[in-house]
Amino acid sequence: MRAAVCRSYGPPDVVEVEEFPSPSVGDGEVRVRVHAAVVNFPDVLLVANKYQVSVPPPFVPGSEFGGVVEAVGGGVTNVAPGDRVFGTTLVGAFAEKVVVSADGVTRVPAGVDERLAAAFGVAHRTAFHVLRSVARLRPEEELVVLGAGGGVGLAAVQLGSVLGAAVTAVASSAEKLDVAASFGATTVINHHSSDLRKALRGVHPDGVDVVVDPVGGDLAEPALRALRWGGRFVTVGYASGSIPRIPLNLVLLKGIHILGFQFQQFAMHEPGDLRRNDGELLELLATHRVAPYIGASFSLDDVAAALQFVADGRAIGKVVLDIGGPPT
Ligand SMILES: NC(=O)c1ccc[n+]([C@@H]2O[C@H](COP(=O)([O-])OP(=O)(O)OC[C@H]3O[C@@H](n4cnc5c(N)ncnc54)[C@H](OP(=O)(O)O)[C@@H]3O)[C@@H](O)[C@H]2O)c1
Repeated sequence: MRAAVCRSYGPPDVVEVEEFPSPSVGDGEVRVRVHAAVVNFPDVLLVANKYQVSVPPPFVPGSEFGGVVEAVGGGVTNVAPGDRVFGTTLVGAFAEKVVVSADGVTRVPAGVDERLAAAFGVAHRTAFHVLRSVARLRPEEELVVLGAGGGVGLAAVQLGSVLGAAVTAVASSAEKLDVAASFGATTVINHHSSDLRKALRGVHPDGVDVVVDPVGGDLAEPALRALRWGGRFVTVGYASGSIPRIPLNLVLLKGIHILGFQFQQFAMHEPGDLRRNDGELLELLATHRVAPYIGASFSLDDVAAALQFVADGRAIGKVVLDIGGPPT
C-alpha cells in the first residue's frame, strides 16, 4: 500500500510517501481502507519526537481517519467488512490502510460524508465533553472560546451555540473570526488588533460564565479576568506553546472554578459521561445539526505540506488528507 512514512525524526518534510507493507489484522482489530485522514498538531510533534510519547521510526503518522472496513479479526462484533467507519489511533492513518482496535471505530451515520466524519472525531468530542461535563454549560450562559478558529475552538463555538449559550469567539484573524461567526459566535474579538482584557470588558461589562481555553499563553489571564462571580475556566491545551501561570488572588476574589480536561483521563474516570456525550454528539452529527469545518485539504502526496500548514498555525477548523476511495 502507499503510505506516508517517517523514517527519522525531524520537521514535516522528513515524511515521504512510499510503498509500505499493508498491516495485518489481529484478534479484536479491524483493517480500514482509508478514504480521508485528518492532520492534527500532535502528528507534527510525533514526527519531531516532541510529543508526550515517542514512536520509533519507521512509522506512519496520522491519528484520525474515515473509510470502509476491509477485514475484521477474531471476536469483532461491532463492525463488519463494508461498513463505513471513522476512528482514532495514535499513528498509522496517513496510509491507504490502517489497522486499529475495533473499539477505536464508530459507524458513520447514514447520509454523512466520511471526510466530515473523519474530521469530527477528536476536536468535537473534546469540545463537547468540556462543555457538557466539565463546564456544565447551561442555556443563556455567556461563553468565551479562545483559539476559536482552531479545531477544538471552532467545535466549542458551534457546540456552545447548539447548547444555547451566547458565544464570544477570540482568534487572531478576521478570516478565522468570520468562520467562527458562521458557526454561531455572536461576538468576535481579534486579539491581534485589540487588547483582549479591554475588549472583553467592553462587550461583557458584567462578566461571562465560562471560558474554554485550548491556547494558554498570554491569553489565559485576560480571559479568566473576564469571568463573573462563580465563573468556570476550563484549560484544554497549550497551542501557544506556553503554560500560563494564574495569580490565585483572581480566583479567590471571584470564587472562580478552574477546571481541566484531558481526554484519556476523562475517558478512564467518567465512562458514564463519555458514553452519554458521545451518543448525543453522534446524534447531532447524524441529524446534520453540527459538522466540522474543513478549512484545507491536501492529497497524500502533499502530506509534508499539510503537516507544515498545521505546524505554522494556519489551519482553520480541520485539515484533511484525501487518500482514496469513492466520495460518499
Ligand atoms: N486536553 C485534551 O484532551 C485535548 C484534546 C484535543 C486537543 N488538545 C490540545 O488543544 C490545543 C488546540 O488543539 P486544536 O486541534 O484546536 O489546534 P489548532 O487547530 O492548531 O488550533 C490552535 C489555535 O491556537 C492558537 N495558537 C496560538 N499560538 C499558536 C501557535 N504557536 N501554533 C498554533 N496555534 C496557535 C491559534 O489561534 P489564534 O487564532 O488565537 O492564534 C490556533 O487556531 C492543542 O494544544 C491540542 O494538543 C487537547
